[in-house]
Amino acid sequence: MQELSEKLPQVLANFGIFGTIGNQYKGPLITEVEFELNKGSKFSAVEKSIKDIARELGVSGIRVAEIPNSTFISFELPNPEAQSVPFLPLTEREEFAESKFALPICVGVNMRGAPVMKDLSKMPHLLVAGTTGSGKSVGLNSFILSLIKKKTPQELKFVLVDPKRIEFSMYNNQAYMLRPVITDMSVASRCLAELCVEMNERYAKFEKNMVRNVGEYNEKAEIKMPYIVCVIDEFADIMLFDKTVEKQVQMLAQKSRASGIHLIIATQRPSVDVITGSVKANLPTRLSYKVASATDSMTILNTTGAEMLLGRGDSLLLEENGTLTRILGAYVSNDDIISTITPYRCEIKEPETTNAVVVSDNGKVTVPQTAQQEKKSKSMWARLVDWWDRIGRRRQNQIINWLLTIIFAAFQAKNASSKARSTTSTVRKITSTNKKTSRRR
Ligand SMILES: Nc1ncnc2c1ncn2[C@@H]1O[C@H](COP(=O)(O)OP(=O)(O)O)[C@@H](O)[C@H]1O
Ligand SMILES: [Mg+2]
Repeated sequence: MQELSEKLPQVLANFGIFGTIGNQYKGPLITEVEFELNKGSKFSAVEKSIKDIARELGVSGIRVAEIPNSTFISFELPNPEAQSVPFLPLTEREEFAESKFALPICVGVNMRGAPVMKDLSKMPHLLVAGTTGSGKSVGLNSFILSLIKKKTPQELKFVLVDPKRIEFSMYNNQAYMLRPVITDMSVASRCLAELCVEMNERYAKFEKNMVRNVGEYNEKAEIKMPYIVCVIDEFADIMLFDKTVEKQVQMLAQKSRASGIHLIIATQRPSVDVITGSVKANLPTRLSYKVASATDSMTILNTTGAEMLLGRGDSLLLEENGTLTRILGAYVSNDDIISTITPYRCEIKEPETTNAVVVSDNGKVTVPQTAQQEKKSKSMWARLVDWWDRIGRRRQNQIINWLLTIIFAAFQAKNASSKARSTTSTVRKITSTNKKTSRRR
């Protein structure tokens, strides 16, 4: 390692980059080497040549980043032997055990080995990307276990979606589950729609109780509302199955911030057909593991760099305020999952879903009634209006013409009869006057 950082100034000089080496910090995965560029040298020039610099140093991935509020930049050089960070000991650290966050998640450690804890309720959703094998599923498990460690099954419920059927099967029959792990994509899209309905119902309750969010509601109300965290592994699989989920995810991401419903969505393909602009815009907090290309890194983080990551939990976290932190994810083994969740085993039944839920274009959620329910609940007048709408313009015109003809005919008939009546009465008048005059004579 010493060698790499010693070789660095010489290699940089080969690319016309000059400066002085500063402090060095060795972490579990990389060694950060601070470097002060000579006056007039450009950071963008370093960024452009970083792949070639790595090649000349003989290592696979080097990342360079600006250090905020400092004249230094930092080179992140991979250690010859990467250490992994086990999950359970991390949760025993004071930073996690004493944390007062509403939904604390232990993301991993930073490049100097210090734990990184974040509050999911503040994020308020998380978009996770990375190629296959980069550490997404291990990461998702570490977030789920973090929440289980800090919350009771009464305070928190999960909806887990797992198209691959292998990642979350262990969580079945846990008291934390709102329903069994979803592996069928048609159920997934229905379940997301139900979460939209739940969200709207929660907001209605907040309004009635004059509170603004789930925290305030739970302080006041006797029956507490649990937080709901929906974790989707491989979002691309759902999107390819049913594009309408996009609307539901967009609605949840946009509006569910205060309702206590949070999304964690992982995808191996951060392309625009999976993560569309409207979904992305509503998921400002993003975690990228190693991705395939600089373009993918741009899509997910708005900057390059994630393509240089080393895999196995090495990641970059982009927060809502724009800060970017490199984090090594904690490693969760199967045994860690089993030992954490075994005390919460219970029987969970598939909830009955009677009606599919429809999210319309303007974001309104409705539960369509069956034809019979609809018939019963509608008044005579409403049914007539429905029928009128249904028959179409041509039939409407025909009926109007027909009605007008009837009215006109009726009017004419009335006129004719009144005329006839008035002639007979005149005739009668004339004959009666004639009779009177003849009598007088
Ligand atoms: N944080 C980590 N520390 C060490 N090794 C990890 C870590 N995350 C993942 N790995 C390794 O990488 C493999 C693939 O991880 P996984 O989460 O299944 O990837 P993905 O879901 O992105 O395809 C794991 O089996 C494990 O060996
Ligand atoms: Mg996976």
